Amino acid sequence: MCGVNCWCFLPFLLFLIIPNLSSFASGYGQFSYYGFDNTNISLDGAAEILPGRLLQLTNGEANIKGHAFYPAPLHFRKSPNGTVVEYFSASFVFGIIPTQPALSSEGIAFVIAPTKDFSDALPAQYLGVFNNQNNGNPSNHIFSVELDTVQNPEFQDIDANHVGINLHGLRSWQSSPAGFYDDSTGQTSNLSLASGNAMQDLGRL
Ligand SMILES: *[C@@H]1O[C@H](CO)[C@@H](O)[C@H](O)[C@H]1NC(C)=O
Ligand SMILES: *[C@@H]1O[C@H](CO)[C@@H](O)[C@H](O)[C@H]1NC(C)=O
Ligand SMILES: *[C@@H]1O[C@H](CO)[C@@H](O)[C@H](O)[C@H]1NC(C)=O
Repeated sequence: MCGVNCWCFLPFLLFLIIPNLSSFASGYGQFSYYGFDNTNISLDGAAEILPGRLLQLTNGEANIKGHAFYPAPLHFRKSPNGTVVEYFSASFVFGIIPTQPALSSEGIAFVIAPTKDFSDALPAQYLGVFNNQNNGNPSNHIFSVELDTVQNPEFQDIDANHVGINLHGLRSWQSSPAGFYDDSTGQTSNLSLASGNAMQDLGRL
């Protein structure tokens, strides 16, 4: 999936706020952020820490990108060159605030990558992770979970409000309309990603 050392980060695009809790854990390391003021986190592009401990990835301007990375690489393989890869789980609270009602671009992605340098990546539908040259290239070694609020036919997006699991590019390996499972009713309900409300993403792999 990726090299011995991987950078784990909470990137991108559009308007992203991560309030109180963001955490990541694998057998070989874990971290939590309870707010982002006075924390050691690597930011680039439009990303900034706002008063009130919030991390804002982009600021509503068109065609910009921003990244926030955990500052140190994490180990995913049990031994150098080993084939056994650790499981991991990640959880973060986010909000996507459209600049105009019902018009959001383009979404955010949780990314595990062998580098923190995404200077060549494009904003907008590339989510600040890929560009038109490297999209889909297995040598990217990039795993991502996209929270995508625009349907891009070139990436075979299923709709304009979905969660996708991506390997090396923007065409999802698996995707599903955004939703949540309600423990009390046992039902899955739809969820609008770009509602502006705080939401929690919880994943385990
Ligand atoms: C932040 O974390 C990095 C990676 O672990 C480390 O090299 C650096 O010294 C830390 N910076 C501060 C200010 O603690
Ligand atoms: C891991 O693989 C690289 C590239 O094939 C090789 O240079 C290195 O010696 C290997 N390391 C170990 C510990 O086997
Ligand atoms: C939930 O979303 C799916 C897929 O977009 C749609 O087919 C379904 O009608 C929606 N359900 C409700 C209750 O809105």
